[in-house]
Amino acid sequence: YFLGIDVSTTATKALLIDSSGKVIAVHSTTYGFETPHPLWSEQDPELWWNGTQQSIRSVLEESAVDPSEIFGVGLTGQMHGLVLLDAAQNVLRPAILWNDQRTQAQCDEIHQRIGRERFIQISGNVALTGFTAPKILWVREKEPEVYARVTNVLLPKDFIRHRLTGEFAMDMADGSGTVLMDLKQRNWSEEILDGLEIPRSWMPRLYEGQEITGRITPEAAQATGLKPGTPVMAGGGDQAAQAVGVGAVEPGIIGLTVGTSGVVFATTPSALIEPQGRLHAFCHAVPGRWHFMGVMLSAAGSLQWYHDTLAPEMSIADLVRESEDIPAGSDGLQFLPYLSGERTPYPDPLARGAFIGLTVRHKRAHMTRAVLEGVAYGLKDSFQLIQNSGLGQINQVRASGGGTKSRLWRQILASVLEAELVTVNTTEGAAYGAALLAGVGAGYWKDVDEACKAAIKLTGKEEPQSAEMEQYRKGYEVYQKLYPALKDTFK
Ligand code: XUL
Repeated sequence: YFLGIDVSTTATKALLIDSSGKVIAVHSTTYGFETPHPLWSEQDPELWWNGTQQSIRSVLEESAVDPSEIFGVGLTGQMHGLVLLDAAQNVLRPAILWNDQRTQAQCDEIHQRIGRERFIQISGNVALTGFTAPKILWVREKEPEVYARVTNVLLPKDFIRHRLTGEFAMDMADGSGTVLMDLKQRNWSEEILDGLEIPRSWMPRLYEGQEITGRITPEAAQATGLKPGTPVMAGGGDQAAQAVGVGAVEPGIIGLTVGTSGVVFATTPSALIEPQGRLHAFCHAVPGRWHFMGVMLSAAGSLQWYHDTLAPEMSIADLVRESEDIPAGSDGLQFLPYLSGERTPYPDPLARGAFIGLTVRHKRAHMTRAVLEGVAYGLKDSFQLIQNSGLGQINQVRASGGGTKSRLWRQILASVLEAELVTVNTTEGAAYGAALLAGVGAGYWKDVDEACKAAIKLTGKEEPQSAEMEQYRKGYEVYQKLYPALKDTFK
């Protein structure tokens, strides 16, 4: 058996699989996060540790699996969150999360200190408010008394790793989301660390996704019920682990996740970068591979907001069904999905949502369909950047996440992206990918490719519809003009 643990923003999930890849037990312990000021988003790391203990205990209990038969634990979690420890290994302040938007001034400072072009060249990315490096600079500037005591920088899942194994370690996929790494070298960048005056000694050792980073300590065994000495593998940031979990591990297979946020994920065979830094470029959780990623902050989150605000009395499925008869293009109605600001292709925390083109002829069903189409157009922005990045032929899009449960939304996505969209049998996301990485690290599968082939099967397929494609091309042309036209009104 192999165990995957996902330290996400809303819950910590433990998932146990057997050696055929079958899910044996899964348990999530939920929690919230704090927004003490506008643009802030923070979480107490103790929530993750409590969640980890509870979820592992529940999974062991429910499955009745003997802990000595678990041959590896793989970790994954929300990326970019800043956890600071002091010399006594105490947490110094609440973690500053990936969806925190307070650090625009520090992003500008990073570009100014390193040089924007040079920074993109080394890290593969522009500095964005969500990433970790600007959060470190923010603490230095605003909380010098905290900063003075820092001895270790960790990401959320690696804080849990430290509690489980006593080791300071990080995988390279999550590590590259700090934007303190040299993307090509798969190592910390001395030039960036020196340029930002961040001590190298604060950063943990980096590992490939399947490598063993430490073993369950006697104290952690006591706390979780796991067997002391069980190996803990590096795992990956949630996006890379999610990609492993659906088999998006080779160029040509695009991972498309329509969860609260939306992600278009493409494996790259070398450290490719988008010259203007419009796509994230990170290491993959697979050795010797990298990936591009476009992130939309409010994908299924847009539909959720729309439903909760305008039709809370009915189910989301019924609300969506109502819009099935509305023609592609929603009779000219457009929706901008920037309800929480945006990242790709417009890295703008102040971007805002909108309905555009309303007339008295439009009904609620048009608005619903416009939301589905607007999110699809926003994802097409990332998809096109990936298509134009020199990656070559895209053979398949593997869709996952809550939004893709809707057949209508899958059809819209296939026709808007003009690509074949498939679904797979593994729907447990990042925790599943982390469990597969643990299995590879334990030597059960030869490599990640073999693990994915063994565990992942295609379950459904949507083809683009040529009649609708025409409508969507026109709709997308209009959509592309809307953000630039409205940008100045978002203040
Ligand atoms: C990825 C990102 C989010 C978080 C969510 O860049 O910021 O997907 O990892 O957990």
